[in-house]
Amino acid sequence: MKKNNVLIAPSILSADFGRLKEEIEKVEEAGANILHLDIMDGHFVPNLTFGPYGVSCIKKYAKKPLDVHLMLTNPDHFIKAFADAGADMLSVHIEAALHIQRTLEEIKKVGIKAGVALNPATPLDTIKYILPYVDFILIMSVNPGFGGQKFLTPILRKIRDCKTLCMKEGVKCQIEVDGGIDLSNVSDVWKAGTDIIVSGNSIFKEKDYSLVIKKMKELCK
Ligand code: DX5
Ligand code: ZN
Repeated sequence: MKKNNVLIAPSILSADFGRLKEEIEKVEEAGANILHLDIMDGHFVPNLTFGPYGVSCIKKYAKKPLDVHLMLTNPDHFIKAFADAGADMLSVHIEAALHIQRTLEEIKKVGIKAGVALNPATPLDTIKYILPYVDFILIMSVNPGFGGQKFLTPILRKIRDCKTLCMKEGVKCQIEVDGGIDLSNVSDVWKAGTDIIVSGNSIFKEKDYSLVIKKMKELCK
């Protein structure tokens, strides 16, 4: 079966926030398919970023869909706020959502794509019975909280297992992988069954974003 083209979602966590508009326009022109926005609360993860107001500012000029990754302790409290701010895709961590099926339904109710995110140590079994409610699965390949960390190679097996699970359950969820992806491992991540590649540091640390994104796309064929 032929796979769809890879989708590259640069994580703006590694962008220069002092020139954010310029950075986003540059990465969109460079071939980004989606923009990945990391929301951290200093509680679920040991770092802080921005909230719905920041997303609404980006929405004013961004051309690509906004993929909002909530690393929050109480994600249910913020679904409407992030949807109103302009999120097109919203993922919540299973470790933070006690009633994940209800949360996913709430996200779908506001008309956007609902994703479930899994920390590296969280087994796939935790989402097995709620897969029909999921639009995309966000598999973390680093412990969330910071950009520029090293890819955890055992997660390749988790991606493969996730693909197999989705096929077995007959669901068409997209698989997104986030953390430590660069030119040395993107092909393995893709081959394991990934649809959406999140990449922060390896794109924004380079001068020429289009060169990295182009190479990533070439390696995922
Ligand atoms: C980590 C974030 C990631 C991260 C990816 O908590 O969820 O989106 O910024 O960045 P790199 O590619 O630098 O690991
Ligand atoms: Zn992320």
